[in-house]
Order: sequence, then C-alpha cells, then structure tokens
Amino acid sequence: MPEERVANFSAGPSALPISVLEEANKGLLNFNNTGIGIAEISHRSKEFLAFLANLETLIRDQLHVPDTHSILFTQGGGYGQFSAVVLNMLARHTLLHPEAEERTLDYVVTGSWSKKAAEEARRLAAGQRGAKVNVVVDGRPYSKDAKSFDNIPADPTSYAWSTDPALIYYCDNETVDGVQFSGDAQSPTAFPVQQLIAAAQARGAPPLLPLVADHSSSFMSRPIPHLADHAIIYAGAQKNIGPAGLTILIVRQDCLPDVDAAAALGAQPVPFSLAYKTLADSKSVFNTPPVLPIYIAGLVLERAKTLGGVEYFKEMNGRKSAAVYGAIGEGEEKGVFRRKVQQGSESGMNVVFEVLGEGREAEFLKGAEERGMKGLKGHRSVGGIRASLYNAVTEEEVQKLVDYMKEFIGQGSEQEVAA
Ligand SMILES: Cc1ncc(COP(=O)(O)O)c(C=O)c1O
Repeated sequence: MPEERVANFSAGPSALPISVLEEANKGLLNFNNTGIGIAEISHRSKEFLAFLANLETLIRDQLHVPDTHSILFTQGGGYGQFSAVVLNMLARHTLLHPEAEERTLDYVVTGSWSKKAAEEARRLAAGQRGAKVNVVVDGRPYSKDAKSFDNIPADPTSYAWSTDPALIYYCDNETVDGVQFSGDAQSPTAFPVQQLIAAAQARGAPPLLPLVADHSSSFMSRPIPHLADHAIIYAGAQKNIGPAGLTILIVRQDCLPDVDAAAALGAQPVPFSLAYKTLADSKSVFNTPPVLPIYIAGLVLERAKTLGGVEYFKEMNGRKSAAVYGAIGEGEEKGVFRRKVQQGSESGMNVVFEVLGEGREAEFLKGAEERGMKGLKGHRSVGGIRASLYNAVTEEEVQKLVDYMKEFIGQGSEQEVAA
C-alpha cells in the first residue's frame, strides 16, 4: 500500500481497493487498448458498450438476479431514486387501477434515509389526486429513548400495511443511524417479505409485490434475501463498488411503466430521464452515462468475482463487524464506550457508538488520526463515532481500529483508577 494512504472508515464516498485504483490509473490513459482514456471515450463506442454489458453480467451473476428483472444504470444518486420510485410506481398503479380513488405509498421508516425518502414521497404525492403516504411503522417509538432510530421493529403487529399500495418502501441499511435489516430471512429483524407474500395470497392478489428497497450502503456486501420478490432495488455506487455518480437499479419488468400512457389517465408526468422504461429501452445509454464510475465499478466487481462474490464479502464483513462490536462491548463494560443500536438491529456496514466522558470523543478521533485512521466521526445529525466497514476496508485495517479501541479502553480504565 502506498505509504501516504490511511485506513479510510468514511461513510461514503469511501475506500476502494488499491489494486483497482492502480488498474483504473492505466484505464484513464488507455481504456482496453483503444488508445483513448476511459474519461475520453464515447459512451456509444463498442468497447464501452461491451464493458457496460459485462458490468450487468457481473451484478446479475453475483447477486443471482433472475431474467424477470432488468439491471439499469443511471445518474442522480439515492435522492434521484427517492423521486423516481414514487413517480414510476404511481404511474404503474394508475395503469393497473385507472379508476382507483386512492393510491397509497407504504413507507417503513427505520432511520434518517427512509425518513427522507418518505418526505420526498409526500411532496410528490401532493401532485397526484388521491395519492398519499402511509408510514407503516416508525422505529423511533420502539427505541431506548423513544426518539432515536436504534432498532428494526421486530414485532409484526407494529407494521400497519395498507391493502393495495402503489409501493412498499424500505431502506436495507441506514447509513447514518447504523441500523440494518437482518440478512438472514428467518430472523425477526429481517424485512418481512414472507408476511407480505402471505397477506397478498390471502387476499387473492397477484404475487407481484410493489416492493422497493434502497440498498445504497449495503449493495454487494452480502446476498439480498428475497431479491426476486422485489419490484425495485437501487443503490448509489459510492459505498461498496465505486465512485459517486453511478446509480444501479434492479427493476422487475412489470415496473417499467409507459409513463405517458399513465399521464393520459391522470398520473403525474414523469421526466424522461427518470422513467425506468426510457432507461430500459435504451439499455441505459439514453443519455451519457457516468462512464468513469461505471469503469471503476466494473473493475471492483471483476475483483469481487475472483474473490468469491457476495458470499465472500458476507463472511469477511461479518468478521470485521463482529470484531468492532466486540471491542465496543469491552468498552461498555469498562464505562468507556456505549453502543447506540439495539441488539439484532446492528448494521454490518456502519458501526456506530459513543465515547463516554467530557472531551473523550474528540480525544478518540485525534488518536485515531495520529495512528493513520480517518473518517470515524459520526454523521453531523447524530454525532458519536461511525466506523464504515465497506467491502474495500481490509481486515488488517479493522484490526488496527480494534487494537486502538482496546488501547483507548485501557487508558480510560487507568483514568478511572487514578480518579
Ligand atoms: C442509504 C442511503 N440512501 C440514500 C442516500 C442518498 O444518496 P445520494 O447522496 O447518492 O443522493 C444515502 C447517502 O449516503 C444513503 O446512505
């Protein structure tokens, strides 16, 4: 590793593998022996289109995406999708039920990002007659202090689903709050897909759930439970697989509505660049796609493939987060750290905790920087410490953090003894 690089625990944009950055360096000058750099080549050149098709295959193979779903690439990030999912799914609902008086958008709110997504849905719903947001559940009343996002509500009776929603939305991993749905489909803190399927079957409704998931900060870090039952899964690339600027979508083909036909029936017009059908029909080159982030994502996922794909990262990320949570537990016993998230709801990607004692958090961060570790400050809205352990953060780097946490705990205990 180049001497001047530090261990980067930033929440995003975040660390990328050194070998990929070195390879990308070459591609910036000469992409796939074309004699043209990747940032300079036409997005319609046969070399780039082949690279894009291969990126799709890498995602499809590693996540086992079935043929029922298209993989699309666009710009606009998570915020872009907060809007796009609402507009496309309202258009779909309008085409399916032109006479409906009401169109409900079901939001499961377990943290800051799903809360923001629900706020955007409320804004956009105001533009279509009969459209409204239903907050299925909000995690805050179930938290230790009754006001923080520190848990995935595990009791199924706390979820108030509506009957025939235009969409059902959740965020797999809440990057700010460090709360994540379990990756084990049988766990009480897994997203309750089975419950939704059973409820739809009991109503005799078609089994095509309008299920939408934000996977921005967990994409490719582990398999996605019930992937085939999702209508839309989306992710910004800038956590696990590449630079900011690329947004990846996995969309079931019945969720590529003809938005103009829907508008003729009273749905809101959808900007062309946000319509999933536009992206699908043009194979994601309707307008200029983010060529450089696509290139780097392709290199990252080629490397991931050789390592063993999402199964490999699930194991490795599991070891990393277990080590950090273990150190938090030790610190808690000594009164130095405090965990923020309830057991069973902890994120495997963004580990959050507090450092107890006046001025001690600043001391912790300063000590980390001195030891070559950066990006550990918690999100400005919630404070505390956040260690983001995305795919490119190595086990050695995590060990360095854990060793430092233990050293810090030792110092804290000595101070207590002295006092
Ligand atoms: C889970 C999640 N969703 C959405 C967003 C917003 O993404 P963007 O900044 O790409 O719009 C973020 C950003 O960090 C995120 O972590």
